[in-house]
Amino acid sequence: MALTGRDLVSILDFSNDEITLVLDTAEQMAEALGWGEDGKTQPLAPLDRILATLFFEPSTRTRMSFESAMLRLGGSVISMADARASSAAKGETLADAARIVSGYCDIIVCRHPENGSAQAFAQAASVPVINAGDGHNEHPTQTLTDLFCLRRHKGTLEGLRVGLCGDLKYGRTVHSLAPALARSGCELIFISPPALAMPEELSQKVQELGAQPQVTDDLAGALDGLDMLYMTRIQQERFADPAEYEEYKGVYVLDEKLMKKAPEDMLVLHPLPRVDEIAPEMDDDPRAVYFEQAAGGVPVRMALIALLLGIVEDSGASKRSGLVEP
Ligand code: CP
Repeated sequence: MALTGRDLVSILDFSNDEITLVLDTAEQMAEALGWGEDGKTQPLAPLDRILATLFFEPSTRTRMSFESAMLRLGGSVISMADARASSAAKGETLADAARIVSGYCDIIVCRHPENGSAQAFAQAASVPVINAGDGHNEHPTQTLTDLFCLRRHKGTLEGLRVGLCGDLKYGRTVHSLAPALARSGCELIFISPPALAMPEELSQKVQELGAQPQVTDDLAGALDGLDMLYMTRIQQERFADPAEYEEYKGVYVLDEKLMKKAPEDMLVLHPLPRVDEIAPEMDDDPRAVYFEQAAGGVPVRMALIALLLGIVEDSGASKRSGLVEP
């Protein structure tokens, strides 16, 4: 189950046991960050490794939490946050960029607007590559962050009843999350307008993984019995026709009135950013855990970087003095 030296392009690159290893290691990282009951922060030793972040699309959470995670691990970060400032603007291919940046760092995090770009990048790179979102294809580290939050609250990932709501066609977070949940034996309810339904190949994939997803456009009608509702933004930047976006923006708004119909213990997660699909009044509802979910991106990404770099054992025990003690 060694993760050392591996890439993470698709969430299914990791087995359920490997995902559990990341989440368990993330719990240790969270403790080291002072998330434990005693709030004690353990010292982290300096780490002679460099993380490179290459973002060809906007990001707040993913890029900053990866960079924070590496700095918290004691390592260093080099960043190319704006593709317009790189030689991509002169026509350099992604494969060449991957080869070049591999010479400057020990691990690469890449976000790019094209589906499949992460795979192409990983094939050309000579250091581990983490997919931080490739077009509307996948966003596997968001899924690890989602699962970390979900497991902390529910105590398990198995057999939960989960609603995925919003733009299931273009939302890359749900394209990674749905297969991971299906493989854990979760019941899935896909809630979207028909035009923004989960792509057929993904519906097929979750069925191959054992789920029989229900499909509806009725959010209120789908709330009954849910353990978790995962809201998503309508992905404006993916629509070829702006008029089509205008048709669907605001199609779902989760507010206090709707939440009165939801189970008392139904968590609300969202990968963020939100636009209008969760009313601000919801932020005070104890079931709304999306800000905590986003904060979890740091320990999860610390765990992932540490495992891919081989600076923690598969047991989660540190190879470095001063990191997380087992
Ligand atoms: N959830 C997420 O990917 O957020 P960013 O686009 O801000 O990274």
